[in-house]
Amino acid sequence: MKRPKINIPIVEIPYSDKVKLFIKREDLIHPEISGNKYWKLFFNINHYLENRPENPLIITFGGAFSNHISAVSAIGNLAGIKTLGIIRGEELEKKWTHNPTLVFAKKNGMNLKFVTREEYRHKDKLTEFLQQEFPQALIIPEGGTNKNAVYGVKMMLNNDTKDFDYLCTAVGTGGTLAGISEFCEENQKVIGFKVVDDSSLESKISELTSKQNFYLTDAAYGGYGKINDENVRFINGFKMKFDIPLEPVYTGKMMQKVLEMIDADYFPEGSKILCFHTGGLQGIEGANMLLEKQSRNLII
Ligand SMILES: Cc1ncc(COP(=O)(O)O)c(C=O)c1O
Repeated sequence: MKRPKINIPIVEIPYSDKVKLFIKREDLIHPEISGNKYWKLFFNINHYLENRPENPLIITFGGAFSNHISAVSAIGNLAGIKTLGIIRGEELEKKWTHNPTLVFAKKNGMNLKFVTREEYRHKDKLTEFLQQEFPQALIIPEGGTNKNAVYGVKMMLNNDTKDFDYLCTAVGTGGTLAGISEFCEENQKVIGFKVVDDSSLESKISELTSKQNFYLTDAAYGGYGKINDENVRFINGFKMKFDIPLEPVYTGKMMQKVLEMIDADYFPEGSKILCFHTGGLQGIEGANMLLEKQSRNLII
């Protein structure tokens, strides 16, 4: 993977007179490997390829609408590397053609292996087994989170991000937050917006960063991947007002919670807040399919 040439824009969101709110548009980094995915995969894949494996193969894990699966399949396609996705939910084997993320992954040449939720829960065992079967393969954990990913997230920080009091990101597996925490300036505070109910996240993140500068807040709005009508209204209103697309699993929930916190005067007056747009917009199509089935308003 090459370092992208574009300078990622930081855009002001004119929301409040009390604080200054900005979004860093990491979603614009690449049309298919967007947001934090680019940087979480960057060192993982480059280190693997430096050793020139004879038959390179990348294996990774994800759910039905996974942004990570989508990004890994795109890299495989662009770099001519075989990819294998271990997908949670054996029921998807018969209906993956109705899932835009999995159709995209297949189109990119990714092999898909569907496993039961029980098997998926024991990913460590599966990883061991797969590494024995494919000794040359690079096996990347779910969500791409590992030490290399944390190091890659450093690239989301630069001179332009130093001036902010608060750095905000959505938290799934915690790698992105850990990278921001580890590599930001000493005086900056990091807020992680948990979109998943996982009480072990804080300790998992603490294993990946040496700093204690982060605070986690709940932004799950009913659970991982659950989308309520207010989430949809918020995302659509945000796009109409500020011309920035958000998706319903990560960035939409983070921004909704950030604005709630601004309204509740959580941030001291004059604070400068930077939210990372971590991409994932590919997920909107799948989300809209589910919303349509339930005859609900769609994401525009
Ligand atoms: C769009 C998007 N934002 C944020 C995250 C959260 O990143 P992490 O898993 O590193 O916490 C993810 C998931 O990986 C994601 O796909």
